[in-house]
Amino acid sequence: MSRGVVLSTRELPEPFDSLREDFEVRVLGGPAGDLELAAQIPGVDALICLVDDAVTGMVIQAADRLKIIASYAVGVDQIDRAAAAARGIVVTNTPNVLTDATADLTMALMLSLSRRIVEGDRMVRTGGFAGWAPGLLLGRDLKGKVFGVVGPGRIGKAVARRAKAFGMTVIAFGRSPRHEGDADDPPRVSFDELLRRSDVVSIHLPLTEDTRRLFDAATFAKMKPGSFLINTARGPIVDETALALALESGSLGGAGLDVYENEPRISLGLLTDDRVVLMPHAGSATVETRREMARMVVEDVRRVLSGEKPLRLVPPEGGRR
Ligand code: GLV
Repeated sequence: MSRGVVLSTRELPEPFDSLREDFEVRVLGGPAGDLELAAQIPGVDALICLVDDAVTGMVIQAADRLKIIASYAVGVDQIDRAAAAARGIVVTNTPNVLTDATADLTMALMLSLSRRIVEGDRMVRTGGFAGWAPGLLLGRDLKGKVFGVVGPGRIGKAVARRAKAFGMTVIAFGRSPRHEGDADDPPRVSFDELLRRSDVVSIHLPLTEDTRRLFDAATFAKMKPGSFLINTARGPIVDETALALALESGSLGGAGLDVYENEPRISLGLLTDDRVVLMPHAGSATVETRREMARMVVEDVRRVLSGEKPLRLVPPEGGRR
C-alpha cells in the first residue's frame, strides 16, 4: 500500500521530522502562490501551510486526494475554507498556544513606542549618546492611560490582562461577550468610543471581509490625537497608506506593527518614520511556541490521515476567494 503524502510549504521544528517515518513528506522551501500550490497538490493527502501561502479555490479544485489543510498558525485567512468544506477537506489551526507569545509582542511594541526603545538603541549605536540630559528621549507614561483592545478574543484578553498590570484602564470593542466573572475582561464600548478615548489602540481581530481596512483614513480621523496604533493581527485590517498619512500629519503619535498589508513589502512612509516600530510578523516566534505549534499540526495531520477527527477543526465560514 502506498504511503500517504504530506506537502509542507516549509520545514518546521520538531516533531515535523517524525512525519517522515510514516509518510512521504515533500517540502517546497518557500512561500507558495496558488499557481505553484495547484501544480503540486495532485497526489497530496495533507497540506501544511503558513500564513503567506495562498490556498485558494484554485488549489483546492486541483486537489484529488487532499483530506486536511493544516495551518501552522492560528489565522486561516490564507485558506478558502468554503471551497475546502465543499470538497470535504478539513481545515485546522494552532489556537491557544501562541496567545501569550503574541500578547507579549504586543506589549513589547507598546513599550518600544512609549519609551522610544528603538530610537534610543539607534542613537547609542551611532554615537549620539553624549550623557544624561533632562530632555533626552522623553517618552510617555502608561499608568493612567487608556488601552483599547479591538477584538477581545483569546489574544485580546491576554493583552488586556497585561495592559491592566501596567496600570492602564482597558476598554474593548468586539463581538466576544464580556465574561462577568473575569475581572480582567475589559468592559465593551462602541468602536467610536474606543477610538476617541484610547491612548493606545491594539488590533486583535481575524482578517475577514468585515475587518479588511477597518482602519482607514476615516478611522484614523476619529482616534485620539497623539495616540498609538499597534497591529499584531493581520496587515490588511489597516490601510497602510492612510496610516502613513495619519502619522505624517501628526494625528497619530506612533505605530507598532508586526504585520503588513502586502507582506513582506512595507510602505516607504512607514519605513522612514521614527515613530514606527516594525517587526517581521513574529507574534508567535518563540522557540517554545513554534515547537508546540509544530506538535499540534503533526498531531492533527496524523489523526486525519488515520481516519480520526482533528482536535483543532476550524469551521468553514469566510475564507480567501
Ligand atoms: C500568525 O500570524 C498566526 O496566525 O498564527
